[in-house]
Order: sequence, then C-alpha cells, then structure tokens
Amino acid sequence: MNSILKSISSGKEYPLNEVRFTSDNGELLDVVHDFDALKKGRNISREYFSTQRTQLNGQPSGGVWHFKDLVLPDIPEQDVISKQEGNTRLYRSKKISSFLGLSKEKFFLKHEGENPTGSFKDRGMTAAITQAKALGQKAVTCASTGNTSASLAAYASEAEMTGLVLIPKGNVAVGKISQALAYGTKTLVVNGDFDDCMRLIREAQEKLSAYPLNSINPFRLEGQKTIIWEILLQLNWQIPDWIVFPGGNLGNTSAFGKALHEAKELGWIDKMPRFAVIQAEGASPFYKAFKNNFAQLTPEKADTIATAIKIGDPVNYTKAVRALKWTNGIVESVTDEEILEAKAVVDAAGIGAEPASCATVAGIKKLMERGEIKSSESVVGILTGNILKDPQVIVDYHFNRKTVHANPPHDVEPNLESLKKYL
Ligand code: F0G
Repeated sequence: MNSILKSISSGKEYPLNEVRFTSDNGELLDVVHDFDALKKGRNISREYFSTQRTQLNGQPSGGVWHFKDLVLPDIPEQDVISKQEGNTRLYRSKKISSFLGLSKEKFFLKHEGENPTGSFKDRGMTAAITQAKALGQKAVTCASTGNTSASLAAYASEAEMTGLVLIPKGNVAVGKISQALAYGTKTLVVNGDFDDCMRLIREAQEKLSAYPLNSINPFRLEGQKTIIWEILLQLNWQIPDWIVFPGGNLGNTSAFGKALHEAKELGWIDKMPRFAVIQAEGASPFYKAFKNNFAQLTPEKADTIATAIKIGDPVNYTKAVRALKWTNGIVESVTDEEILEAKAVVDAAGIGAEPASCATVAGIKKLMERGEIKSSESVVGILTGNILKDPQVIVDYHFNRKTVHANPPHDVEPNLESLKKYL
C-alpha cells in the first residue's frame, strides 16, 4: 500500500481500507501518499505529468485520473468509476477582466461547471465512489445544497450502488434537484437546513453504516486536488499570485491547500500562490473566524441567494485553516447584491456560472478595490458550477431588475416591423 489515512493534528495513522472518516478522537483525516515509495515504481515528476498523455482503460484519462498515481495509486485501473472528469477550460475574458480592473493577460477563470454533471463535485465524486466500491460498500449518501447530490446520483447510477441524498427543503436550485431525480437516486427533502442534513449524514454513518460522499470523506478531496494541478499545467507552471474561489463546507479550500503542499513536497513548485476564499455575507462563519485570527469557529444560521454555499457550520474548518496558513491566504465576504452583479457580468461575457461561483468574481472585485489584490498581479478565479444549475435566479434577475446588466425579454407581434427596432 502506498497510502494511509492520517489524522490531521495528532498524526494517528489508519489503514486505507478501514471505513472511517475521523480519527478516534474526532479529527479529520488526510489521505497521505508515500512519495518515496511511489517514486521507486512510477514516474511522478512534473515533467511526466506535463508531457505524457495518460490513458485510463484505453481512453484518454480525464484531468483527475491523469494524476492517478497521486490520487488513488493502489486502485486497479479497471476499478475506477470515471466519466472523464476534469480537463476543464481556463478562460480569458476581456469583459470580465475590465470589470475587475485586471489585465486580460493575467486573469483566468477555471470553469469547473464544465464537468460531467456541471460542477467540480465530479472530481471528488469519481475518487470517493471508486474508493467506496473498493471497500465493498453498497449504499452511498450525502447531505447537499444540490451539486453533490446531482453528482452522487450520476455516479451511484454508473457504479450500480444505492444512492441516498438529503437536501434542505426549499433551498436547492431547480437544475440540481432535477438531476438527482433524473439520475434515479433516492432524494429525501429534509425539513431543515444543510447543516441539519450534514449532521444527519454523520449520524447515519455511525449508526447505520451508510457511506458518506460529502467532503468529510478524505477521498473526495483527493479528486478535487487535481483542479489546482491542472491549473499549474495549463499555466505552464507559472504560479499565479492569487487563486480565488468560493467557500461553503470548505472542501475545496482544504483540497487546494493539500494540492499545493504536495506540489511543493514533490518539488514541482517553489512558492505558494495566495488563496482568497470568498463567502456570502449571510453564510460567512469562516470569514468571521478569519477576522478573529481563527480563535474559533462559531456556527451560524446561513442565508444567501447563493444556495450552494448556504452553509453555517463547515465540516472541513480545521483543514481549511491549515490551507490558509500554508498559502498566506485570506477570507473575504460579499453581499448577495455583489454576487448578482458579478454574475450578470460573468454571464454576459458568454461564460456564465451559478451564483455561488460568481462569489469568486465579486470577491476579486472587492479585494481589488481594497488594494489587497493589485492590478499588476496574476489571478486565477475558480467558477465552481454551471450557469444552468440555477435558472430561476437568472430569470428573476432579468425580468425584475432595473440594473445596467438586466436584459429582459420583449414581447412582439409576429411581423418584421416589430423586429426592426431591435436591430
Ligand atoms: N460552489 C458550488 C457551486 C458548490 O456547489 C459548493 C458546495 C461550493 C462552491 C462550496 O464548496 O463546500 O468545497 O467549500 N456545494 C456542496 C453541495 C456543499 O452539497 O453541493 P466547498
């Protein structure tokens, strides 16, 4: 075995094939790979990953499985459950960079909404469900603000496992709930919020042995690490000054920190970019903890239009704090109005993303205005979910708003005369 589970503070180790999500004393677990052992049998150099076109089961591997030897090195290739996730675009946009006041040459948006089910969750899901299957699990579960449930549903179907998802009543965007239903997973609408769903999933894991695919599952984070490695490949190893992304349950924050920490350990990079994690003002426990020098996390009742990140008690808090320390990172919060304005710009640039993703762009704008991010610096923003996930927010915005970005439809009679005035 080239990997073990290790608790993040005490360092207690457990075998990888043990079904567990925390240490005996309740700490989060990392999947830790033995790089020295791996180096003996495999090529895990930067040059290798930069130049090789790797394959998985005879097909070009997606972005995640390109890095298989550093994600799940001991799993036989044929046991990987994959939909070629990753290999997402790194956009440049004149419109968005000028909205932000950044140079078009130095500003990039990595669009994770271009994954198989429309969000970054697929990167984590492929790794975690592969591990679940390898462990002989029959049923997989999650609490979700929507995207995890969509992803779990699609992968449970592919893996022929029973899927059970818990979503908070009235707080999941229509695109996401549609996916969970359509892909055929059992969908329980809980009369509570995401944090209630998450608590139930943790209890179900302990008392009903249901295998969770939330980001408390360390294998999820192994898949999500590859977002960062793929960015470094796409930038030809030019390390950006900043990487900016939204924070909810803080799985990405944790996974991205681990990706960079490992890249440094492997000698791929010699300096760290800085993280800026963006939260919605109404769901900002991590921001408040940051302001308080991480003295403590105070869970809160979350409320924001960006339902994907409507989370008041993030499970990955301790790992996320570690990631910020590694990257000299910061946390910012933005209002729903700022998210909607940024979203209108991202959408009108022909790229588009769901509200939570656009917290990234709203956050960059705020940090630019504050002088925290300088116009001379290079910035990679991550868009986490597809524009079609939450069509209701778009329709409400364009039908009802009177802002410069609002683009309402026009009713016309079926004749050329009525078209003329719009040309
Ligand atoms: N962006 C989108 C589109 C998300 O769906 C999520 C999380 C996040 C950002 C936040 O990422 O949790 O790693 O900090 N969605 C989860 C879900 C919670 O259930 O789909 P995080």
